[in-house]
Amino acid sequence: MSGRLTGKVALITGAARGQGRTHAVRLAREGADIIAVDLPGAIDTVPYPLATKDDLEETVRQVEALGRRIVTHPADVRVLADLRAAVDAGVTELGRLDIVVANAGILTMGTDTAKAFLDVVNVNLVGVLNTVTAAEPHLPDGSSIVLTGSTAALLVGTVDRGGAGGLGYAHAKRQVARLGHDLSRVFASRRIRVNVVHPTNVRSGMMDNDFMYHAFRPDLPEPAREDMIPALVDKSPMGVPWLEPSEISEAVLYFACDESRWVTGQQLKLDGGQLGPVSDAGVPA
Ligand SMILES: NC(=O)c1ccc[n+]([C@@H]2O[C@H](COP(=O)([O-])OP(=O)(O)OC[C@H]3O[C@@H](n4cnc5c(N)ncnc54)[C@H](O)[C@@H]3O)[C@@H](O)[C@H]2O)c1
Repeated sequence: MSGRLTGKVALITGAARGQGRTHAVRLAREGADIIAVDLPGAIDTVPYPLATKDDLEETVRQVEALGRRIVTHPADVRVLADLRAAVDAGVTELGRLDIVVANAGILTMGTDTAKAFLDVVNVNLVGVLNTVTAAEPHLPDGSSIVLTGSTAALLVGTVDRGGAGGLGYAHAKRQVARLGHDLSRVFASRRIRVNVVHPTNVRSGMMDNDFMYHAFRPDLPEPAREDMIPALVDKSPMGVPWLEPSEISEAVLYFACDESRWVTGQQLKLDGGQLGPVSDAGVPA
């Protein structure tokens, strides 16, 4: 099936690389035009490089290769005024807005300072709220909002043990889960759906970097990607080290398109078995 999003426009934050890029490409393949937002520059508590201008240009190239339109607007999701300007400009250029994917995120795990906690909460939680705030005036009834949480953040004793930065990541993502639930009630009367995807480890710039190699293999002086893989597999009940970004995009597509028009307030955990086995909560007796 294709053309499920023909005539629709999607706003995607963090669209320069990783999941944001594959979300843009997947939605474009179904006919959507894209407003792509990403951050120019760095955040000093993030222990790996964020996306570059070239990354954003590569997203543009891949979307345009599908014959879809894409406009890019550099903006920091922490700055509501900039985000509003970016979204307003994108909507003027592409004519409408039907889908919001609040995907931009950072991980400041391992940095044990208050600033690391505050930076990650400001991007991963306040940035999500800002994205919805900037988009809301443009959204017609029946549109779709998808937020990005995290499986690890829902588990106690994983990322929340990674210093103040890791705790901030867990805090922000748990609040995003709650936000998705409560916003779904707020928007229900307009038939605007709000759902949350919670990925387990994903092979993107956030995981596939020197900092993570060292975090998962502290026993090695110069660990590489291949050294980290067994450690990831070891922690996965299904034996999967990480998912591909495009696998998360399939879930985003489901929530973006009309097949899910009566589905809202859901927390879809793409967890590789990470959560299911640890609890019977919510399972009928
Ligand atoms: N990679 C994983 O293992 C994993 C697991 C669970 C959840 N997530 C979440 O998935 C989402 C996407 O991450 P990813 O895996 O593609 O990582 P990534 O680092 O490749 O992509 C994140 C993107 O967000 C952008 N960004 C960061 N701060 C921003 C800001 N202030 N304003 C605008 N853009 C900003 C980055 O430049 C980058 O392009 C994030 O919310 C992340 O927390 C990732």
